Amino acid sequence: MPMNPTIELIMHRHSTRTYDPAPLTQEEKDTILQATMRAPTAGAMMLYTIIEVEDQSLKDKLADTCDHQPFIAEAPYVLLFLADYQRWMDLYEGAGCEAKAAELGITPRKPAEGDLVLAMMDALIAAQTAVIAAEALGIGSCYIGDIVENAEIHRQMFNLPQYTFPAALLCFGKSASAPNEGLVPRFARKFIVHKDKYLRFSKDELNDLHLPFGRHSFAPGDFAGGAQNVAQANYIRKFTAAFSVEMTRSTREMIKRWVGERES
Ligand SMILES: Cc1cc2nc3c(=O)[nH]c(=O)nc-3n(C[C@H](O)[C@H](O)[C@H](O)COP(=O)(O)O)c2cc1C
Repeated sequence: MPMNPTIELIMHRHSTRTYDPAPLTQEEKDTILQATMRAPTAGAMMLYTIIEVEDQSLKDKLADTCDHQPFIAEAPYVLLFLADYQRWMDLYEGAGCEAKAAELGITPRKPAEGDLVLAMMDALIAAQTAVIAAEALGIGSCYIGDIVENAEIHRQMFNLPQYTFPAALLCFGKSASAPNEGLVPRFARKFIVHKDKYLRFSKDELNDLHLPFGRHSFAPGDFAGGAQNVAQANYIRKFTAAFSVEMTRSTREMIKRWVGERES
């Protein structure tokens, strides 16, 4: 693979979970945010909002509500990325758009599932741009998927209106551990990149999925929770775990709110 500094940066990035407690400088934060706001955005609408989580009590609470991950409280810089249609709905309202639409015979509408997905794309693309910008400044990061848990608590903590939806929580900080922690392997490319149409794999082929991790997916072994191979361990520790169940409950609740009766 031909290398250049950007490709090298991407190839060596890894999630950082132990942080040098020194705060990021204002210049570092500004650079990350400015680069982030240059991310591609659907229709140039910037369907996202970024909340800088600075209040330590909020970080402490997130460490608890996001599946008990104490390192969140220790991250020097924390950003919450929201998919956001509220700003546009408020703009439309202020501009008399519904009355104008009625006059023109256009049926008014409110944000629905498609708008949510588009705003989620925008927010996540912005988030990953922040990750790469930070990395370029020597600042590590880690996503926290558990931000989609506990919808009611997070709504209250961050004053989230109806047409906002947590897309990603990102912790940033310079790494406190020695470099070269070892990169987490990725599955072989044939499983991930398909040509022209979707490919499903046989049981035998799928057995090779975990080879980059040094073992077959179905190779017998001793794992926590009574699992006997890697696939079973994943099913028990992740797919059926309490956090996954809570994620689904909470997400369902947020989607219900988004598509539900308009709140004032
Ligand atoms: C959507 C998403 C959610 C994640 N949530 C968490 C999390 O809650 N806690 C955590 O420690 N890491 C989380 N991660 C980081 C992954 O565990 C990490 O990216 C993966 O193990 C690969 O490691 P690498 O980023 O070092 O290559 C998340 C990553 C993504 C993309």
